[in-house]
Amino acid sequence: MSFDASARRTTNAAFVPHSAPFAVASAEGAYLITPDGRRILDAAGGAIVANIGHGRREVAEVAAAALERCTYVVPPFATEDRLRLVERLTKSWLPPSLTRVLFTSGGTESVEAAMRLARQHHLSAGRTERWKIIGTDLSYHGASLGTLSVANHAPRRAPFEPMLIPFPHTPAPYRIPGVEVTEHPADTLERVILEEGPETVAAFICEPVVGSAGGALVPVDDFWSRAREICSKYGVLLIADEVMSGFGRTGKRFAVEHWNVEPDIMVGGKGLAGGYAPMGGVYASDAVVAPLVAERQDLMFYTFSGHPASCAVADKVLEIMEREELVARSERMGALLMERLGALAVHPNVAEIRGLGLMVGIEFVKDRATMERFPKEARFATKLQGAGLRQGVFFYASGSGQAQDALLIGPPFTINGEDIDLMVDTLGSALEETLAAM
Ligand SMILES: Cc1ncc(COP(=O)(O)O)c(C=O)c1O
Repeated sequence: MSFDASARRTTNAAFVPHSAPFAVASAEGAYLITPDGRRILDAAGGAIVANIGHGRREVAEVAAAALERCTYVVPPFATEDRLRLVERLTKSWLPPSLTRVLFTSGGTESVEAAMRLARQHHLSAGRTERWKIIGTDLSYHGASLGTLSVANHAPRRAPFEPMLIPFPHTPAPYRIPGVEVTEHPADTLERVILEEGPETVAAFICEPVVGSAGGALVPVDDFWSRAREICSKYGVLLIADEVMSGFGRTGKRFAVEHWNVEPDIMVGGKGLAGGYAPMGGVYASDAVVAPLVAERQDLMFYTFSGHPASCAVADKVLEIMEREELVARSERMGALLMERLGALAVHPNVAEIRGLGLMVGIEFVKDRATMERFPKEARFATKLQGAGLRQGVFFYASGSGQAQDALLIGPPFTINGEDIDLMVDTLGSALEETLAAM
């Protein structure tokens, strides 16, 4: 199949951030195929989504069968597909304490629902003052006004500032190259909770490993375990945003497992259905949901929550992940990628190579010796992404604030050593092309 992408340019261009839209005709495995037959290595798995790779027929067949069997029901009704997915999630994937599951159509909807759940939890328990949700700097939780409010991805947030809810934020709890921190981020979290007044704080939300706002920044080692203790101490719910880091991306089922932490609420999306369906989920403990149940309250659903075909697809995607042991492969291929990227680590414009599993970030600076960043207007990471794409590999430009120019590598877990070599070689030559044009 082919189509003429240029004919659509005028209708699409207004919503595409580059001057000309990049067209994809089909995708298979870890590769995107353009209308003129070029094969592009999808080193970003789309938006860090395509965990099992593209174009699996058995998933498409399951979707078709589900659509024929039961096209749509209002979300409070149960369907076979949804029940099967819930069972798989609670038996084989979620931390044991997270037994309650609500489905959505993606990450933003999931984070919004988690924020509402935190508020409703306290409200139903009679703690009417608790409404604040503390977020962190260098975070992205979605594109709705609520999720933009609780996050701090400066360029994405800035235009909407007057419209946002005034939630408190802590500084980013990650190691950022060249940024000195004098207070342990867990102490900072405790200080912010105390300054705000614990009786007003409903929850703390954080990305275990930062995605688009920071290019795979990893938190200081004991941050999550201490954050868990602090949240419990003050009756603040701990929300882990695993939209990007979940479902095997960091080499564990969920990134919080790296620190043996069970949050009160966890949020997922992207990898849950691996790009085969728009799908997200909110996972909570019985203790979080109990006050709502006692009050006969429910969380308002979205029309497409738990869509039968999306559930059937997600169940099949997770079955494939299990059958092919893809979480372990993410860890293995991540280690190989890190090793092969090693040669770039001393490049004068590379600040750091970091990440866990196949969620890898490379941050770029004007001068590695001083960690001086490029001028913002230079849009270095975006240009580098463009050069990579021209040379045949799609990387994901990311970064904001103190870590503004990074590329995320988040390919399908099915990649092999040759794909990794192609990524690393192309990254090197795209970097030289971009620096030469600066
Ligand atoms: C950590 C995190 N949370 C939430 C979202 C929002 O998800 P979506 O774009 O599916 O609405 C994203 C998207 O990149 C994300 O990375």
